[in-house]
Order: sequence, then C-alpha cells, then structure tokens
Amino acid sequence: MEVVITTAGRAAQLAADVIARAITRNARAVLGVATGSTPLGVYTELGRRVSAGELSLREARAFALDEYVGLPAGDPRSYRQVIADEFVAQVDIEPDAVLAPDGAAHDLVAACADYERRIAEAGGVDVQLLGIGSDGHIAFNEPGSSLASRTRVKTLTDQTRRDNARFFDDDLAAVPWHCVTQGLGTIMEARHIVLLAFGEAKAEALHQLVEGAVSARWPATVLQHHPHVTVLCDEAAASRLELADYYRETFANKPVWQSL
Ligand code: GLP
Repeated sequence: MEVVITTAGRAAQLAADVIARAITRNARAVLGVATGSTPLGVYTELGRRVSAGELSLREARAFALDEYVGLPAGDPRSYRQVIADEFVAQVDIEPDAVLAPDGAAHDLVAACADYERRIAEAGGVDVQLLGIGSDGHIAFNEPGSSLASRTRVKTLTDQTRRDNARFFDDDLAAVPWHCVTQGLGTIMEARHIVLLAFGEAKAEALHQLVEGAVSARWPATVLQHHPHVTVLCDEAAASRLELADYYRETFANKPVWQSL
C-alpha cells in the first residue's frame, strides 16, 4: 500500500493521472467510480482534461459502487443520479456505459447477482476510486461486513446515516436505512485501487486502514491484502498516521521510473 500525503488538489491530479494511464493502455478500460464529496475533484480534473483534448473516455466503461434502496429513479440523491451529474456530465463517456446497482429493483437479490455478472462480463474493474466513511466503510460495507462479501443489501449504521444527512437537507429521517453495495470481495478484485481521504473526520479511519489490524470492525482494512492500493490523503486525514514521516520520505524518494 502506498500512502501519499499531499493536498486535495494534487491528490485529484494524481488520481486523474492513474485513470489517464489506464485509458492510454486500453481505451476500453473499466473504471470504478465512487460517490461522496471526496472524489469530486477527480471528476472535475478529468472533465478539464477531456475539454482540453488531453483525454477521452469515449470508449471507457464504468461501474458505481453502491446505491440507496428505496429512492425513486431520477431522485437527485440517488447515487446513480449523482454519478450522472458529477462524473458523466463532465466527461465524454457514453452514459449507457456507466452502470450502478439497482436499488429500486423489485427483486434486490437478483439485481445484486446481475450486477456482479455485469462487472465480470466487462472483464473486471481496472481502476477503482474509493472514498472512506468515518466509521471505516468503503462503498457501503459497514463494520461487520464479511471481508469476502459480494454485492448485496446492507443496513446503514447510525453514524453513516448522520454523515449523509447533509445530502437530505439535514433530515435524518429521510436518509434510507438500506443500500445495495459492491462487497469487499468484489472491490478487492479491482486491479488498482485509489482511495482518497480528506479532513480530520477521516483521520481515525485512515489510521486503521493503513496501520490497524485487518478486521471487519474497520472494513477498509481488507485493502491491506490487496497488491496495488494507492492512498491519497491530505495532512488532516493523515494526522493520526504513526509512520507519516516514512510515507512522506518514501514518496519524495520514489524512483522516477515507478508510477503510482
Ligand atoms: C458514502 C459512500 C462512500 C463514501 C462515503 C464518504 O457513505 N457510500 O462510497 O466513501 O460516503 O463520503 P464523503 O466523501 O462525502 O466523505
């Protein structure tokens, strides 16, 4: 796991560099896209590069991580819609090439299995963007999630519902209790995982992810078992890292031939 302590702006550029390299290698690369406020700078940077003619996602495909259960199609708070507004609208990817789990399906279990099948048929995810919840969740894999889990229905914790109430006019009662989410086992199959974390509220979760014991108590710790994870964080999120100086030295002295 590589930890890069930098600014949010530089982190967005580095994450966009990783995606651009994947597209250079294969124009049909499969991207894993995340919601939340953290990855927004990456989408803005990708949009800038597309507008400048430096990058094209025309042939790329993308899969979202998760979705609330019970929001009507087109609801502006639904993650499908957030991805459409914040990612798809800024770049030149084909809207039909971007899939999200179906939280409005009549048969949620079948919809989850179908989503897994679609990811596999696409050849798996090449670059997965991730944020992290303050309780250590990735996607919506809350504490207690099986480290081998696949796409399924989960119940949100009180902490996550409170954290996300800001997207529901601070009305906690309006935040759904359930979601469908790629499992930890699903996410672990992505070839390169780029996790972004900004702000003091993420400091403990980031410390656990990088330096804690692997445990379902802090689901993001499963990433310690992944061979290619890049953590891009700011100083505030890094404030509880015990080996922060070592991560800084490592990045400052990175061999020039070695990319993220
Ligand atoms: C939600 C999403 C996660 C995201 C988290 C953090 O719970 N399901 O994928 O990482 O929020 O959001 P933010 O980036 O806004 O802090």
